[in-house]
Amino acid sequence: MKILLVAGARPNFMKIAPILREIEKYSSELRGILVHTGQHYDQNMSDTFFKELGIKEPDYNLEVGSGSHAFQTAEIMVRFEEVCLKEKPDLVVVVGDVNSTIAAGLVAKKLHIKLAHVEAGLRSRDWSMPEEINRIATDSITDLFFTTEKEGTDNLLKERHTPETVHFVGHVMIDNLFYQLKKFGDKVPSELAENIKKRLPDKYICMTMHRPSNVDDEETLTRIIKALKAVSEKAPIIFPCHPRTKKQIEMFGFQGAFKTLTLNLSTLNTSINSVQAVEHLTNGIYLSEPLGYDDFLYLWKDAFCVITDSGGMQEETTALKIPCITIRENTERPITVELGSNAVVGTDPEKIVEYCNKALNKQWKESKIPELWDGKASERIVEAIKHSA
Ligand code: UD1
Repeated sequence: MKILLVAGARPNFMKIAPILREIEKYSSELRGILVHTGQHYDQNMSDTFFKELGIKEPDYNLEVGSGSHAFQTAEIMVRFEEVCLKEKPDLVVVVGDVNSTIAAGLVAKKLHIKLAHVEAGLRSRDWSMPEEINRIATDSITDLFFTTEKEGTDNLLKERHTPETVHFVGHVMIDNLFYQLKKFGDKVPSELAENIKKRLPDKYICMTMHRPSNVDDEETLTRIIKALKAVSEKAPIIFPCHPRTKKQIEMFGFQGAFKTLTLNLSTLNTSINSVQAVEHLTNGIYLSEPLGYDDFLYLWKDAFCVITDSGGMQEETTALKIPCITIRENTERPITVELGSNAVVGTDPEKIVEYCNKALNKQWKESKIPELWDGKASERIVEAIKHSA
């Protein structure tokens, strides 16, 4: 059975890695071909992940790059179609909810190739999010669904998909999290991560933010920064910054709110605008380039809380029971709130500060690990794929 696995943007790589590793265990029956659409392409948004996650270099890189949604989706479709026509796979596996997911899905479906969607059935009910459109459109053409939480399955059944095609398997993102944690064990993943950690006090916060609804709107971004400034007077915030966010901060002229944390060890002592190697990271919001998976994990796993608008971080923090403050109005991953350590607080500065204070004072709710988030989702997926053949 020939399986094309598609990854395009940063969060896809973590989801594809465990599936690929599992497929490789059955090399006499299954052959996995990895296609990188090139939606993300910077060294620290893409290449770093392939190295760290222990997966092979992509068999194909479509090198699509950035552009409008229409351009990116169309370009992926044209280039992915060529790969499908050449390889004639039995199955195409797409993950998550990015433009690469729907683009590759459409191509597969129109070529009558069976389509599997990992992380299917999630719904934010917020049609202003491009991801919600991608999720619903992808699920409407999927043949084999893999869900991460019961609500995902319920949503698909309500949408009249046949129960035999829907498999509740747990979460490959959590497979990868456990795999990476085990891999580096007690060791420090890099000199860089160690250098940052050494300079932090016990009480610190990690943060990610890149949603267009938060960073493209000046008023919303102003509100969030106001809250971050107040919070960072109590504990430093480490903020590896997505290129979209960096661009917007510069465009609105908000750089003054941040301190720059340079990640280049060799220039630590010479960069004028940067935090010096010996300096302790006390109060402030420390902005840096995006970090690799292991380095960031090494930092956030010991943070007092994580502030984020990412879907994956809501789930990963739940898996390690780290308080998570989600700066969005809704979540498509309700289990992280119902059972996990996540609180969806929106972008009201007072609310963000209130919840950060709770986390910093260790007054967070008790949380549990969701069902089947046990590091074995990829085993269940590959088992179901073999059966489907
Ligand atoms: C995409 C996904 C989003 C996901 C996020 C994770 C869609 C619709 N959105 O959003 O769901 O949470 O990835 O990161 O698919 N850029 C670079 N270098 C890169 C990649 C992007 O500089 O390697 C810059 C470009 O200016 C680009 C912008 O970031 O225009 C946005 O990139 P894009 O892939 O369009 O969307 P993301 O915001 O990354």
